[in-house]
Amino acid sequence: MKGIKKRLFLNYLIGVCLVLFSVELILMISIKNYYYKSVEQSLNEKAQSSATFYDQYLNKNYANLSDSLAPLVENNTEQQNIEIQIIDKKGNILLSSGIVSAEKIQTNDFQKALKGEASTWTGNNFDTNEKVMSASNALKDLDSNIIAVIRVVTSLEDVNNLILKYLFLSMTLLIVILICIFISSTILSKTIIEPVREVNDIARKMSKGQFNERINKHYNDEIGELSDTLNYMASEILKAEETKNDFISSVSHELRTPLTAIKGWGETIITGSFEDKEEIEKGLKVILRETDRLKNMVDELLDFSKLEGNKLVLNMEKTDIKEEIEEILRLYDGRAKKERISLQSKFTENIPEFSVDRNRFKQVIINILDNAMKFSPKDSNILINVSTLENELIIEIIDNGYGIAKEDLPKIKDKFFKGNSKKSGSGIGLAVCDKIIKLHGGSLELKSELNKGTNVIIKLRIN
Ligand SMILES: Nc1ncnc2c1ncn2[C@@H]1O[C@H](COP(=O)(O)OP(=O)(O)O)[C@@H](O)[C@H]1O
Ligand SMILES: [Mg+2]
Repeated sequence: MKGIKKRLFLNYLIGVCLVLFSVELILMISIKNYYYKSVEQSLNEKAQSSATFYDQYLNKNYANLSDSLAPLVENNTEQQNIEIQIIDKKGNILLSSGIVSAEKIQTNDFQKALKGEASTWTGNNFDTNEKVMSASNALKDLDSNIIAVIRVVTSLEDVNNLILKYLFLSMTLLIVILICIFISSTILSKTIIEPVREVNDIARKMSKGQFNERINKHYNDEIGELSDTLNYMASEILKAEETKNDFISSVSHELRTPLTAIKGWGETIITGSFEDKEEIEKGLKVILRETDRLKNMVDELLDFSKLEGNKLVLNMEKTDIKEEIEEILRLYDGRAKKERISLQSKFTENIPEFSVDRNRFKQVIINILDNAMKFSPKDSNILINVSTLENELIIEIIDNGYGIAKEDLPKIKDKFFKGNSKKSGSGIGLAVCDKIIKLHGGSLELKSELNKGTNVIIKLRIN
């Protein structure tokens, strides 16, 4: 089970982490750019306005440069976080609203201002080493010669602190989201893993033969479906087991009856209780008849196992259906007379020659006819009606015997299914017939009503 949990965490959690961290990174870069840009803009504006102020209001003819520029710096009192520097062309600070550093200014913005371009620079302050941004602009005399540079500097500490605050807040949010996802995926994996474990435990028990075990269905999901399927499988196996046991007991019972007769007659004959040759002959006839019955039964069982293993190969040959059926009817004539059953047949004109496995076909008709006779009382009628319709040959075996109960009808062709009549055999006759007809590409259908009779309809495609 560790597998599923690991997969869930790897796929789900790592994916989410990657997405969240990417979003966080993009967000922080955007925030930083936004704040830096706005600082840059206000610095530029300040440098520009100071230069304009100098151009318009200050007397550029002052011999003393520092004196003439002093109002520029003094004007700045309202903005404490901005430092204004007046720098001579060599980089020496002449005046400053902050500390006048002895260090020469050589920053990029200063260099560009000397060439008459306005620009900004970001870097560390020489004295305090704090992160600063500066914007410079050239100051010119009446002849447009650059005489000095005005440089406005501001600390980026406040902005950086603000960005850090955002970073902290968004990281906290991110961690909270991750914790929520972790908890929810733990719960999710639990709702998957626990039921799977339960299914596995019960399936293991089932595999050891404990088919009475059932899995509790917790959710109506795929695992629930799997539980249903396994439960269904177990109940089907139980049913099959039951059918198998029933079959074995009914087959043994079927076999015992003729064996008892054979053994009884054999013993009687060997003890020599019969002087009469006729009596001995009668006994031997019974033995032969019962042996035939045994042989038929064993044949039926062998057939069945062949059909079940899909080992039966049809031996197709052109067959005169009418002739075959009439021959079968002749075979049953004696029995029908004895049981006072009227056995009749009806054929439409022009029944074509037909390709079937002759022996298998006969076996089907005999099986169905045998059922009709077995499950019909004395003085009833059986009719075999053979006709063609479009591309089909239709053989109906109609009796007005005991019929089949409505609830039994859907199961009647199942192997081992038999009615509760004393005459019912092993219950594989119809299953075998159905398989043989299906192998021929046809269909076998039963219509029946209790106490009214049964109609077995075989349809075969005329090829
Ligand atoms: N013509 C019929 N009339 C009434 N019941 C029938 C008829 N044919 C089949 N059945 C019912 O179907 C069951 C299954 O038939 P079959 O598979 O031939 O098994 P078996 O003949 O060995 O009992 C029979 O036991 C019987 O209850
Ligand atoms: Mg039968």
